[in-house]
Amino acid sequence: MRGTTIYLYELAWILPSVAIPVGMLVALMVTAFGAGIHVPGDAGRVDPTRLAETPPFNAPGVVELEPGRYEARIVAGIWLFTPNEIRVPAGATVTFVATSRDVIHGFSLHDVNINLMVLPGRVARATTTFERPGEHVFLCHEYCGIAHHTMFGKVIVEDRR
Ligand code: CUA
Repeated sequence: MRGTTIYLYELAWILPSVAIPVGMLVALMVTAFGAGIHVPGDAGRVDPTRLAETPPFNAPGVVELEPGRYEARIVAGIWLFTPNEIRVPAGATVTFVATSRDVIHGFSLHDVNINLMVLPGRVARATTTFERPGEHVFLCHEYCGIAHHTMFGKVIVEDRR
């Protein structure tokens, strides 16, 4: 019966089409469970209808956790970030902790390679250090409605005196 014969050229296609997805799956497992790399935006859950009573989102803003280490607590909502201006001194290490009160927003601070999805019900978190004084715009990069393009803010890194 000729139907059961697998020709060499068929094998040359079949093997990679199995090996490539298996390789990708292995790479995914190694990065997720071995290296602990996860999608930013999976740092916990919160009830988006109760942000006013839920720390730290009941008090959006910047707090100094210890000398040189700050946490910026950000609530995204149509169509603004609260706060939309963040001031820290140069050299500050800032952890951005964000969530959404309504729909899916984004938080992109591309100068320092931060790119978060800000989902209602989820906490997103990312940390960076601002070495030099200057201004860095952050913006919403998930389409969230008619005024999406107005949704931005900035980090102002002040000169240390
Ligand atoms: Cu918020 Cu686009």
